[in-house]
Amino acid sequence: MDPLPPFHDDLDAALAEVWRLLVEGPRFRRNAFHMPALATVDAQGHPQVRTVVLRHADPVAGALRFHCDRRSDKASEIAASGHAALHGYDSAAKIQIRASGPATLHGDDALADAAWAGSMAMSRVCYGADPAPGARLPAGDAYTLPDPETALTLGRPNFCAVVVTLARLEFLYLDRRGHRRAAWVRADGWRGVWLAP
Ligand SMILES: Cc1cc2nc3c(=O)[nH]c(=O)nc-3n(C[C@H](O)[C@H](O)[C@H](O)COP(=O)(O)O)c2cc1C
Repeated sequence: MDPLPPFHDDLDAALAEVWRLLVEGPRFRRNAFHMPALATVDAQGHPQVRTVVLRHADPVAGALRFHCDRRSDKASEIAASGHAALHGYDSAAKIQIRASGPATLHGDDALADAAWAGSMAMSRVCYGADPAPGARLPAGDAYTLPDPETALTLGRPNFCAVVVTLARLEFLYLDRRGHRRAAWVRADGWRGVWLAP
């Protein structure tokens, strides 16, 4: 049987492992935290969840960034509630991460400019889609996408980066010899606490 990982009974090591996985996420397409689920609350107070690509994880600021269309429901929901949560599960590592906190939309600032500049051409094209995401279509193909050149100008106004400044991080590690669940809260100076799994 494999030895237990160093973070099994060590809160600091567990938090370091959480951030290691989150930081790796944006870099590797096949990483479980490359495409976490994003949860928001809609205008009716109902939960909404969908996949996004994690673009950056900053352990120092305790923040996660993804990108979306300003015209999308998720952008409106984040603007209205000011909050978001992200979730991922790495089935190889057997680690689930839940992260949540205040979320801000960046459309016109330096952060958004840098994020847009760092985006791939094929990603930019999506932001020039007409009509807007979520619009009802008379047929499945009744929408247009600009060519990559046009997308540079047409897509930019619709692009925004979303930064979730984490208030809480939680991990669950599954092991037959004993599951481990822990949470860290910014308001407590990121002091960790074990939770019953
Ligand atoms: C693999 C995958 C990656 C995705 N990445 C993003 C993303 O980074 N940003 C985004 O806004 N939507 C992304 N989407 C699409 C969303 O999951 C969602 O379908 C769409 O944005 C509409 O969501 P909304 O109406 O709740 O805003 C992705 C979908 C998949 C399947």
